[in-house]
Amino acid sequence: MHSTYLISCKMSTNRSTINEKEVSFFKNLSEGWWKEDSGLQLLHETNRLMGAFVQEELFRTGLKTQGARGSGQVKILEVGCGGGFLTEILARMDCEVTAIEVVPELVEIAKNHASSGPVTSKTTTYIAQSIEDHAKHNANKYDVVVSNFVLEHVDEKEYFLDSCTKCVKRGGLLIVSAMSKTIWSWLIINLYERVFAYVPRGTDDWNMCITAQDTHKMIRKNNFEIIDTRGYFHNILTGKLSWWSWWSIAYVIEAKKLY
Ligand SMILES: C[S@@+](CC[C@H](N)C(=O)[O-])C[C@H]1O[C@@H](n2cnc3c(N)ncnc32)[C@H](O)[C@@H]1O
Repeated sequence: MHSTYLISCKMSTNRSTINEKEVSFFKNLSEGWWKEDSGLQLLHETNRLMGAFVQEELFRTGLKTQGARGSGQVKILEVGCGGGFLTEILARMDCEVTAIEVVPELVEIAKNHASSGPVTSKTTTYIAQSIEDHAKHNANKYDVVVSNFVLEHVDEKEYFLDSCTKCVKRGGLLIVSAMSKTIWSWLIINLYERVFAYVPRGTDDWNMCITAQDTHKMIRKNNFEIIDTRGYFHNILTGKLSWWSWWSIAYVIEAKKLY
C-alpha cells in the first residue's frame, strides 16, 4: 500500500524528485526514528542548530517580534520532515507549520510523536506529499521554506529547488542544508559511516551530493538573493555541532525571494 503511494506520487506529475532507493532507506529507519539508539543523533544535532538559526532569522527579519504571540502569524513549510525532529522545534516557536514528507510511515511517526506535546499537535499540519505536488497548489504561500538534509537525497535537484522556491512568498526566506560534493565530504561520509559508525551505513550517497556553489546557482535563477552560507563543525569529543565558515563538507544556505 505504501509503495503504491510512492508510485502514485511519481505518476501524479511527469517529473519527480523522488529517488526510490533513498526513500526506502529512510522508510527502514522510521520505527526507530526517535529512539536513542537510532543512529540519528547527528541529524538531531543538525536540527538543533537549524532550529536556532530559523528562530534567529525570524527575529532578524522582523517576521516575528519579541513578546508577540499567536500562531498563524508566520507560515513555515518544512520539506522532507522525516520523523519530525525539526518540525517540533519550529512548532514550539509559535508558528503555523506545514511539514511534508514522501514516506507515509515517517509522517505517521512524526504525527504520533507530536501528538504527545500540547503545542506541536495544535499548530502543525503533516502531509505525505512531495514538494513538487505541494508547490502546484501552494505558490507564494510561506514566509519560510526550510529543508534540512533532504537535497542530497532527491533526484532532479533543480526541480526540487524550483518547487521549494515557488512556495516562498515575495520577501520570504528559503533555508536549505545539504552535504556537499567535494573530496572532503567523500572522506567524512566514508569515515562517519564505515569507520566510526556515527551514522547508519548508506545514509549518504556521495554521488547524489551537491556543492553549495551549484545550489546557489539553482536558487538564484528563481529570483532569490543568497543572504548567508555557512558550514558545520562537528566536535567528535562532545558530539556537538557548531557553525563554521568552511562549507566543503556540509552547508546551510539562506536566500531571500526578491519578487
Ligand atoms: C536525512 S533525512 C532528513 C529528515 C529531516 N529533514 C530531518 O532533518 O530530520 C531525509 C528525508 O528526506 C525525505 N525525502 C527524500 N526524498 C524526498 C523528496 N523527493 N521530497 C521530500 N522528502 C524527501 C526522506 O524520506 C527523509 O525523510
